[in-house]
Amino acid sequence: EEWFSRSRKLAGKHVLVTAGGTMERLDPVRYLTNDSSGKMGFAIAEAALLMGAEVTVVAGRTTVEPPAGVKLVQIESAQQMLEAVTAHFETADIVVKAAAVADYRPARQQEQKLKKTGETLTLELERTTDILQLLGERKTHQLLVGFAAETQQIAHYAMDKLTRKNCDLIVANDVSAEGAGFNGDTNIVQLYGKEGLIQELPLLSKRETASRILEVAVQRLPHLPQ
Ligand code: CTP
Ligand code: CA
Repeated sequence: EEWFSRSRKLAGKHVLVTAGGTMERLDPVRYLTNDSSGKMGFAIAEAALLMGAEVTVVAGRTTVEPPAGVKLVQIESAQQMLEAVTAHFETADIVVKAAAVADYRPARQQEQKLKKTGETLTLELERTTDILQLLGERKTHQLLVGFAAETQQIAHYAMDKLTRKNCDLIVANDVSAEGAGFNGDTNIVQLYGKEGLIQELPLLSKRETASRILEVAVQRLPHLPQ
């Protein structure tokens, strides 16, 4: 019983997780997206549930089923993710932004299916809102956890994102490393805080990676009796 209460470190807490990739519409039958599977975000959500949290997941396009027991908000675009995340931000204690959010969307959404005309087609894209950065500006009590998907200079870019987006933790991964890609069941991540590198995790299942990330987040939660 003591073990049970000690393992439920997030009882009474609300964890907000984003997962999967956004889909940016070009016309009624076409969109831009990315390789995100949603596995890492869902693993975080599941680990949070096991630690006793109330969990909200805002999910874009994913290739796997979400864990049972979460409040699921399904969205397509970065703009819709922004709106859903904003709606649940106030009540959240921990926010984990594992989603792969499009940095650009088509500047114009065509109402009719695009017809082919010339030999080449140039798409004009415009920037989306950086959701994590916006949350960083607005946060009050929330512990903000961002991800950094990199292929080079991991530490440098991770710390840059942590500072720029006012995050409490950054989960950095070298997405070009074997075993750390977007679609696999394993990951290799490094955790960064304001003080720099906190932990370098070995190759682990996404499930184990998720619970290690939440352990560190819990330690840094304000006002949590240990
Ligand atoms: N993110 C976000 N909104 C965006 C873009 C990214 O909330 N429009 C979040 C991601 O969910 C992730 C973090 O920001 O938690 C870092 O995403 P990443 O793509 O690694 O970094 P960017 O800041 O977009 O920079 P770049 O892609 O140029 O490396
Ligand atoms: Ca990006």
